[in-house]
Amino acid sequence: MLILGVESSCDETGLALYDSDAGLLAHALHSQVAMHQEYGGVVPELASRDHIRRVIPLAREVLAQAGRELNALDAVAFTEGPGLAGALLVGAAFAKSLAFALGVPAVGIHHLEGHLLSPLLSKRPPAFPFVALLVSGGHTQLMRVTGVGNYELLGETQDDAAGEAFDKTAKLLGLDYPGGPAVSKLAESGRPGRFKLPRPMIGSNDLEFSFSGLKTAVMLLARSQPGDAATHADIARAFQDAVVDVLVAKCMSALQRTSLERLVVAGGVGANRQLRAGLDAAAARQGFEVFYPELELCTDNGAMIAFAAALRWKGGLPKPDTTFSVRPRWELSLAG
Ligand code: KG4
Ligand code: ZN
Repeated sequence: MLILGVESSCDETGLALYDSDAGLLAHALHSQVAMHQEYGGVVPELASRDHIRRVIPLAREVLAQAGRELNALDAVAFTEGPGLAGALLVGAAFAKSLAFALGVPAVGIHHLEGHLLSPLLSKRPPAFPFVALLVSGGHTQLMRVTGVGNYELLGETQDDAAGEAFDKTAKLLGLDYPGGPAVSKLAESGRPGRFKLPRPMIGSNDLEFSFSGLKTAVMLLARSQPGDAATHADIARAFQDAVVDVLVAKCMSALQRTSLERLVVAGGVGANRQLRAGLDAAAARQGFEVFYPELELCTDNGAMIAFAAALRWKGGLPKPDTTFSVRPRWELSLAG
């Protein structure tokens, strides 16, 4: 089964070709980061327009990379939600029209399901069941995953997502959008221990998170200190230490509470090196295994969408259907 995957939920246009026998054949991405940078964040209308410009050339690119023709496709998978409504509509309209022209089904995929299953595409895939930590720009969730389509929410953030906290901290420190990679790079040169920031909800005895207070603490700290580069690096380090401590503690607690032995980490923040080191060390101490997607598949991409569709429709594809909708807000546990 050959599936074209289309991701357009936010600021990346991702296209990929996945074959259920041969695996991932090709993937291509256009990131809009440079375009949104001067506004300090994603401008939804600009995002939609850019997806329109990129989606067809990228589709041609992956077909050429894989040496396949359009009429070899068995299905087109697209991100149905959650995400920016206009951006989602571009991918959905493209996928549905192409599928209609080819007489094949177009299948809508939950963006977080794509992230969550993406470690299964790696060289060392985890077996079910596992605990999944989804940490992206819009979500921070712990899920119990017992199989494809079987996702139970264990806990989530009460306010900001971890990625959002990275992005806001970056702004406070005068770094460019998107903040995650910038803060993480700066933190690497920071000295641990010079500043101590709160670890929100670390002792709350549940699997919920909160990051908005941490953002305020960073703001107050930054205002009270000189704005030199070394101080900014130390603040970035203190911020990252706090986020990593909380994420690691909650993951270990989720594994203990569920009696599961495997942890899967997905979403953009999962690319963070200090988070990976912290999770690996804690898991090794406590006898758990941790799995990550390949680094290039951590952030948004089309491969995870095509792959999720292939797993979901292993038993056979649905009938072609020309109606479509997108779901800007959509709970993953309801996607099963
Ligand atoms: O999964 P993703 O690409 O898009 C969403 O679905 O949101 O995640 C993007 C988020 C952004 O907030 C970005 O700042 C963060 O992931 N991020 C990172 C790193 N790389 C991306 N955060 C911390 N460290 C990183 N290395
Ligand atoms: Zn994402």
